[in-house]
Amino acid sequence: MRSLLPFVLLALGVLVAAEPTLSPYTLHERRSAVPEGWAWHDKHDADAVVPLRFALTQNNIADIEKHLMDISHPDSPNYGQHWTAGKVLQTFAPNDDTVAAVRMWLLENGVDGERIRVTPTKGWVEAKVTVAEAERLLQTEYHVYNHEASGTKTLLIVVLITGTPPACDSYHLPAHIQPHVDFVTPTVHFDAVIAPRDTSDDGSARTIGQPNHGVYPKTTGTVGTLFQELEHCDQQITPVCLRALYGLVYSPLAASKNSYGIVEYTPQAYVQSDLEMFAQNFSSDLAGASPQVVSIDGGEVQTTYKGFGYNGESNLDLQYGMSLVTAKQPVTLYQTGDMIEGASFNNFLDAIDGSYCSFEGGDDPTQDAAYPDPNAGGYTGKEDCGTVKPANVISTSYGYNEADLTPAYTARQCAEYAKLGLMGVTVLYSSGDYGVAGNGGLCLNADGSQSSSGTRFNPTFPGSCPYVTSVGATQVNPNSTVLEPEGACEQVIYSGGGFSNHFALPAYQKAAVDSYFANHNPPYSGAVYNNSRTSRGLPDLSANGANYVVAIDGAFSLVFGTSASSPVVGAILTLVNDARLAVGKKPIGFVNPTIYSDAFGGAFNDITSGGNQGCGTAGFTAVPGWDPVTGLGTPNFPQLVAKWLLLP
Ligand SMILES: *[C@@H]1O[C@H](CO)[C@@H](O)[C@H](O)[C@H]1NC(C)=O
Ligand SMILES: *[C@@H]1O[C@H](CO)[C@@H](O)[C@H](O)[C@H]1NC(C)=O
Ligand SMILES: *[C@@H]1O[C@H](CO)[C@@H](O)[C@H](O)[C@H]1NC(C)=O
Repeated sequence: MRSLLPFVLLALGVLVAAEPTLSPYTLHERRSAVPEGWAWHDKHDADAVVPLRFALTQNNIADIEKHLMDISHPDSPNYGQHWTAGKVLQTFAPNDDTVAAVRMWLLENGVDGERIRVTPTKGWVEAKVTVAEAERLLQTEYHVYNHEASGTKTLLIVVLITGTPPACDSYHLPAHIQPHVDFVTPTVHFDAVIAPRDTSDDGSARTIGQPNHGVYPKTTGTVGTLFQELEHCDQQITPVCLRALYGLVYSPLAASKNSYGIVEYTPQAYVQSDLEMFAQNFSSDLAGASPQVVSIDGGEVQTTYKGFGYNGESNLDLQYGMSLVTAKQPVTLYQTGDMIEGASFNNFLDAIDGSYCSFEGGDDPTQDAAYPDPNAGGYTGKEDCGTVKPANVISTSYGYNEADLTPAYTARQCAEYAKLGLMGVTVLYSSGDYGVAGNGGLCLNADGSQSSSGTRFNPTFPGSCPYVTSVGATQVNPNSTVLEPEGACEQVIYSGGGFSNHFALPAYQKAAVDSYFANHNPPYSGAVYNNSRTSRGLPDLSANGANYVVAIDGAFSLVFGTSASSPVVGAILTLVNDARLAVGKKPIGFVNPTIYSDAFGGAFNDITSGGNQGCGTAGFTAVPGWDPVTGLGTPNFPQLVAKWLLLP
């Protein structure tokens, strides 16, 4: 009798393992179009072994918005009670049931335990399988594509069995596994082989710092006569114009407790002699001042490549960011990525939050840079992972089109912005410079691909993530003064704005968006943009983006873009933080629930003229109240300080 029990248990165990759990397959991820430059080559060799990686879903992630509102909504009793990094990590790590479910499913389907590995952070389950096994597990087919420009590169992607290849790329998971998996690699993400810097623009997220890639400022050339007077702010924006426009008269009191960070992606770099030239003309307190450079993943302020395409962005961001917070408040420069691979937003986020490195399976190796850099001449150090302290306010003047990235990729990164908000960090991104079109003037085609002849609006990311603050652009209207209302920027660039195709309308924005549609319903159908009134609208606010005088390579140039607007708003919010820190309060953290609240009515200068044309349309129009061109309007600094000092 004693020996029977173990035998029965063993038999049951075998029975369970041999009988796969039956649940129907459903579509998990789909890529709407093959990126330009890739051509179908052949069906993939069925016997080849691939490392199939499953990014596991996080615990409690569905509650992240609730948690964020709890500490950042001004009406919440917990306003300002920011979380520690440890609490964030503990709350959202994948739980053991998730790891076990994916493991069990693989075992049931004939992948023996020796081929399955769970990463130490429990972020990923990895399985060494043949292509034939992967095709069965994911109900899909693997094909090889060639990258035409680089000739020899081949890669794996998935093509929908029932679709017309290669227009629809997708894979499937059983219904009982789906809730445990965010995404699987390699699948619909093109495995763009890491290219050296000068063969550059492979369409992956890490090429964000390449000249003319993504959001970058525009210039109309060098300035003849410099104006120092306020009456010419319609022709040249200088710090004195911005101070007048936004009531920015303030001297920092709590600089040692405060911080302001500006992110730049190599090879973008500032030039010290240009900072000096700007200081001499417009900000004498900054003579001899430099940003505090924090190098991430081998980031260096390179001096090999010069010109507007390499120095314009960094010089603009730092000259205005540093000048507006004054020399009393040091500015941190997060210089991200080496010269060979570059970096993506995910590489930066890994550096400032170690929990993100493994969050939902970690970065996407086909989109984000890998460190140590495997390429000759690349950065050989370890990837920065939680090694850098995030500043209270972080401004980034780079961006993607939402459509450049899959919904799973943007969702993972967006959740990270919520986590930073929980930790009390204010995250600002410029909203793009092409109005309702995407970077480069690209619009969406019906199949989701992007082209200049597309007719559907193409919103930017990360601005479309509801947990960042998206910054649009305004202008001093021609022949107007700083005492008159600004309009939406309609010189050289148009303020990025519209409605997300990936993210739903957040609760904090609902009243503003409802009111916009009720009173100013735009004349476009659902074929042109997501007009459901239930998707995230952007930008949230705006600041001047036209005619900036910037010292670049020894001369002053006129510069345009939401690239300018974001560091200006960052400086203003940094000074709001200073006022709060000086009286012993916490930094303002994630600002959106606050700035949309009734209590902050009047804290922004409402912009009611101009539009953001694009995609062959006039775009949206700036109207009273929030609009998808200039958001709530431009900051009124004295009002913002007064209102934020009233909050706990
Ligand atoms: C501006 O800076 C340049 C270069 O440093 C200098 O030669 C010039 O005198 C300055 N102009 C004014 C008006 O300060
Ligand atoms: C601004 O004023 C100038 C000179 O008076 C004039 O030539 C120009 O047409 C005006 N521009 C606008 C937009 O009113
Ligand atoms: C519009 O956005 C909402 C909210 O994100 C989404 O549920 C809906 O599917 C979207 N509609 C279209 C046509 O994309």
